[in-house]
Amino acid sequence: MFASQRLLRSCLFLLLLPCILPAALALSTVTPIFTVPGPLLPGSWFENLAVRPNGLILATRGDAPEIWQIDPATGQGALLVSVSGAFNLTGIAEIASFRQCSPQQPPSRPETYVFGSSHIPAPFQVTPGSAKAWTLQFSPTTGLPTVSLLAALPDAGFINGIASWGSRRVLLGDTEREVVYLMDVDTGVYTTPLTNMTGINGVKVAPGYVYWANHLAQSLSRVRVDTSAIPNGPVEILAADQSIDDFAIAVDRFGAGKAYIAAMYENKVVEVIVGAAPSLGPGAKRVVAENLSGTGVGLTTAVVFGRRAEDSGLLYATVGQGGGNAAIVAIDPSE
Ligand SMILES: *[C@@H]1O[C@H](CO)[C@@H](O)[C@H](O)[C@H]1NC(C)=O
Ligand SMILES: *[C@@H]1O[C@H](CO)[C@@H](O)[C@H](O)[C@H]1NC(C)=O
Ligand SMILES: *[C@@H]1O[C@H](CO)[C@@H](O)[C@H](O)[C@H]1NC(C)=O
Repeated sequence: MFASQRLLRSCLFLLLLPCILPAALALSTVTPIFTVPGPLLPGSWFENLAVRPNGLILATRGDAPEIWQIDPATGQGALLVSVSGAFNLTGIAEIASFRQCSPQQPPSRPETYVFGSSHIPAPFQVTPGSAKAWTLQFSPTTGLPTVSLLAALPDAGFINGIASWGSRRVLLGDTEREVVYLMDVDTGVYTTPLTNMTGINGVKVAPGYVYWANHLAQSLSRVRVDTSAIPNGPVEILAADQSIDDFAIAVDRFGAGKAYIAAMYENKVVEVIVGAAPSLGPGAKRVVAENLSGTGVGLTTAVVFGRRAEDSGLLYATVGQGGGNAAIVAIDPSE
């Protein structure tokens, strides 16, 4: 089994070789698709993004307790929900339903997201005990959104990146406590499978692996985990010396592919080549797009792939604090 997988992998590698070698790609065009309307709010920023199965983008605001919904096809966007009892919203992730795993089965729950909030009175200041986890559900009949408190987390520090873990649990990175929680989305009960997660920011999953950004060490890593997200392999460093907030991954079942990194105050998106697991070390990097804000300064915190047939290869990234209002831009990484 192992030998044949190895053989398959080396054949794939030979087949892919001609595609890897052509001339370096140019920087991609940054296409602004949406900017928060209204009076100038230079401190405004979107913290995180999730793309709905219908292709609409959900964007949490870091400077207000708001989720905005943006149609990337038209550039139209509007406030979707205001969350009373929250100040600043953080990560957001869709909870996988059974239907996503098997199209024949009825969905196990309505379209549901978990998002985080904390009170962040000023940049890099978090009010102790203020973290909360929430759910956002869309009614299957009316399509209307409902927000509910999933869990107040007085013992948590700062809930940052969030990722779905199976169909009823979610991973929540806590930047201050330097851990990742695994929470049941029906009860809010959680365990703490990953510790010593210094600088944890964005969190993503692929079958059997947890990927995370460490903004202090400026690295992207992954580790093999069991079904309770407890590590059972070595930590692999996939990107190093890279300013990083959240990121998107596109990897195959061997863990090989690419990651796209929102490079925080560097105001750009960086691609890194990810080797099959266990990876041999940090992969080659390439700046995909820079000056995302169009003003030379800005904050990009999250990047996601589109989910419609026509934009599944496109990336959407957040832009904030660039002199204007919080915005979303589109980037074609194959350009
Ligand atoms: C957090 O949200 C409040 C409003 O709820 C806002 O006044 C404050 O500036 C936000 N903090 C940051 C860092 O944007
Ligand atoms: C924590 O992680 C650091 C590197 O990130 C490592 O040097 C250290 O040994 C780890 N400590 C434990 C207890 O795992
Ligand atoms: C950023 O983009 C804007 C608009 O194209 C341009 O005027 C500015 O010179 C660029 N700044 C940097 C630092 O690239």
